[in-house]
Amino acid sequence: MERNLKELISKMTLEEKAGMCSGLDFWHLKHVERLGIPSVMVSDGPHGLRKQDDKGDHLGINDSIKAVCFPPACLSACSFDRELMTELGETIGREAQATDVSVVLGPAVNIKRSPLCGRNFEYYSEDPYLAGETAAAFINGVQSQHVGTSIKHFAANNQEYNRMSNSSEADERTLREIYFPAFETAVKKSQPYTVMCSYNRVNGVYASENPWLLTDVLRGEWGFEGYVMSDWGAVNERVPALKAGLELEMPTSGGAGDQEIIKAVKDGTLDEAVLDRAVERILRISFKWLDNRKEQPFTMEEDHEFARHTAEQSMVLLKNENVLPLKTDEKVAFIGGFAKKPRFQGGGSSHINSFRVSSALDAVSRMEEISGNVTYAEGFAADKDVYDETLAAEAVEAAKNVDKAVIFAGLPDSFESEGYDRAHMGLPQCQNRLIAEILKVQPNTIVVLHNGSPVEMPWLADVKGLLEAYLGGQAVGEAEVSLLYGKVNPSGKLAETIPLKLSDNPSYLNFGEGEKTVYHEGVFVGYRYYDTKEMPVAFPFGYGLSYTTFAYSNLKLDKDELTEKDTLTVSVDVTNTGNVPGKEIVQLYVRDNSGACRRPDKELKGYEKVALEPGETKTVTMTLDHRSFAWYNADMKDWYSASGTYDILIGASSRDIRLTSAVQMKSSVKPPLKLHLNTTLGELLSDERTMGYGKYLADKMTSFFGGSSDEANEAITDEMNTAMAASMPIRNVVSFGACSKEEVLEGLNKLIEAQK
Ligand code: BGC
Repeated sequence: MERNLKELISKMTLEEKAGMCSGLDFWHLKHVERLGIPSVMVSDGPHGLRKQDDKGDHLGINDSIKAVCFPPACLSACSFDRELMTELGETIGREAQATDVSVVLGPAVNIKRSPLCGRNFEYYSEDPYLAGETAAAFINGVQSQHVGTSIKHFAANNQEYNRMSNSSEADERTLREIYFPAFETAVKKSQPYTVMCSYNRVNGVYASENPWLLTDVLRGEWGFEGYVMSDWGAVNERVPALKAGLELEMPTSGGAGDQEIIKAVKDGTLDEAVLDRAVERILRISFKWLDNRKEQPFTMEEDHEFARHTAEQSMVLLKNENVLPLKTDEKVAFIGGFAKKPRFQGGGSSHINSFRVSSALDAVSRMEEISGNVTYAEGFAADKDVYDETLAAEAVEAAKNVDKAVIFAGLPDSFESEGYDRAHMGLPQCQNRLIAEILKVQPNTIVVLHNGSPVEMPWLADVKGLLEAYLGGQAVGEAEVSLLYGKVNPSGKLAETIPLKLSDNPSYLNFGEGEKTVYHEGVFVGYRYYDTKEMPVAFPFGYGLSYTTFAYSNLKLDKDELTEKDTLTVSVDVTNTGNVPGKEIVQLYVRDNSGACRRPDKELKGYEKVALEPGETKTVTMTLDHRSFAWYNADMKDWYSASGTYDILIGASSRDIRLTSAVQMKSSVKPPLKLHLNTTLGELLSDERTMGYGKYLADKMTSFFGGSSDEANEAITDEMNTAMAASMPIRNVVSFGACSKEEVLEGLNKLIEAQK
C-alpha cells in the first residue's frame, strides 16, 4: 500500500511531530488517532522476545510474557552458519509478528574486545567479518517476516563500565576495520529497519549526537534507509541529537525532549524540515510493519525444538582424548549444579522469561537407554562461589564409582551481566577446586562449560574432554546430552580466541577505568593480536572438534593476479575422512605481504559450513573482493590494497592452516604523496613516483659526506649510509649543505606538479 507520508506529515501539528520522535512509554511509539497513525511496539531482543505487557524496564527486572529463549549470540555465532542464523531470525520474526511486536531490538554486534565485557554473551565475535555475516543473515530472517530489527549498539560499545558516558577512543582505521564492519555489512546486505545508537561517546562525542556516525557514515556511505533510535536513555541533548541523525528517543523523556524540539523549531534554531524528515523515516518503518501484517501462527513447542537444534549446531567440542562420545552403556556421573540448573542466558535487557528450560538431567531422564546409567551429584551450587565440603565429598565419591565423570561447570549470573564488567576471567574457585579433586579419582573427566565469555582453565591439561556450551538457550540440556552421546556430531567452532590468561588479552592494560577507554591495541583485537604475536593460547579462533575428521585438498584460485576491481574465486575440496557424518567449517584467511602497512598476521575473509557423509568430498567455493584484501587508509579516507603478494590461507582454525596459495595484487590506486621539506629520503626512495628524485638527493648526500680517511670509512657501511639516508628529511640535504634550498624546492614542486 502506497502512502503519501509527506502529505500526512503536513497535516500534523508541530507538537504531534515532535511527539513522534520519542516513545509513548517504555516500549511503544506514539500514535495520532485522528490521522490513523498507530502506536507500534518495539521489544527486546536479541535471542528471543522479552515482551513486557505490564510494567516496563530496560534491565530485565520486571516480568515479560512467556517466550522461547534461543541460544544467545555468544553461542549461535559459533555455528558459523548463515542459513541457521536466517532460520533463527525467521523463527523470532514469526513470534514477533504473532505477538504484535514491530521491531525486535537486536542483533547486538559489538566486538568482543576483552573477555571481561559483561555483555559479551549478547555479542557475536571478536571478528568483524564473522559478526557482520552472522548479523546480516539473522536480520534477513527476521525481516522476511515483515518485522523490523534494531542492530545495536552503534558504535564502539565494548564494555559495561561507565557504559552511559565512557568515551571509546579509537583511531579511524581501527573503527573502520574492527568496530564498524559488522554494522556496515548488515546495512549493506540486509538493510535493518532500525539502528540503535549506543550509550557511550566515540572519541568524545556521544554516539546519540554524533553526525559523523549517524549521518555521514551510516546513511551517506553505507546507504542506511531506516531510522535510528537511541539506546534506552542514551540521549544527551535532544536537539543536537536530532540534527545529528537520531530520529527516535527511547524510551520517553516524559516529554522533555519533545518540548526542546518544539522550542528549537519555534526559535529558529532547528529547521522544521529536519523534524519532518525524522518523522517521515519513523512513519515509513511503522507503516511498513503495519501494512504487511499477516497471520503468523507459531508454537512454542516447535520453537523449543529449534532452540535445541541451534544449540546443537553451535556448541564447541574443545578437547576429546578418546572419551567422547559417551556410550549408552557406560556408567557416568553428572556432577555440578549446572547439570540440574543450567545457566543458559545472561542477565539484563535480553533476559527472557522462558516457557520451559531443559537441563542435562531432564534430558537424560527422558532417554530410557541411558537414564539408568547416569548418576548425579551436585558437587557445588550453580549460583555462588562456596565450597561445600559435604557436596564435594559426595561428588568425589560418585566420580570414583563410574566409567566417566562429566562436570557441568560455569559462571553464575552474578559473575557476568549487562550493566557491569567481570572482575576477572576465572571460574568460581569452588568449581576449580572440585574439578581438581575429581581429577584425583577419575581420569576420564569431561567438563561442560556454561559461560558467556571465556574462562581461565587451570585444569585444562588434565581433563580428557571439554565441551564449550556457552549459554545454550532454554533447550541447553537436551543439546548437551545429544552432543555428549554423539546423537549429533559437534560442529561449532569458536567465534573468539580463548586466551590462557586475562593478561594476555591486548586490551588488558586499557580496560574499564576512568572516563575514557583508549583502544591502544588498534586493529590488533582477538586473534589479530594473538596470532601476530605468535602467543600460545588455550584455544584459537575458529577452533572446534568433531567426532569425525576432515581432509583438505585441491586449493584453486581462479586467477593468480588481480586488481582492486576484480574478484577472486577460491575453491577447495573437503573430505570427511572418518566414520560418521559431520560438518566442517572451512575458513579462509588473507595475509598481506605487501609491507605497505602493519597489519594482522591474517584476517578472516570467508567461511562455509559443509555437511559431509563419511568418505564424501565436496568442493567449497568462496569469493573475495577488494575489501577482502584492503585496509583502511586514513590518509586516503578509503580502503586500499597495496600492490604485492597476498597469501590465501585455508584453515580449520586460525592456527590450523591446511592449504596456502598466493595471489598478486596489481593496484592501480596510489596513496597520495605527502611532499614537503620534511618528507624523508626513505619515503621518496620507496615510491616509484619519487624514487628517481630520492636517488638524486641521496647521491648528493653521499658524495658530499664521502672521501674521509680510510679509518673513518671502515666504520661507514653501505647499510649505515642507506639507513641514515632513509630517515633523513629532505631539509637536511639543505642544512648539511649538499644542495641549495632553491634547488630542493624546485625539485619538490616538479614532483607535486606531476601528481596533479
Ligand atoms: C540495552 C539495550 C536494550 C534496551 C531496552 C538497554 O539498557 O542496552 O540493548 O535494547 O535497554 O531494553
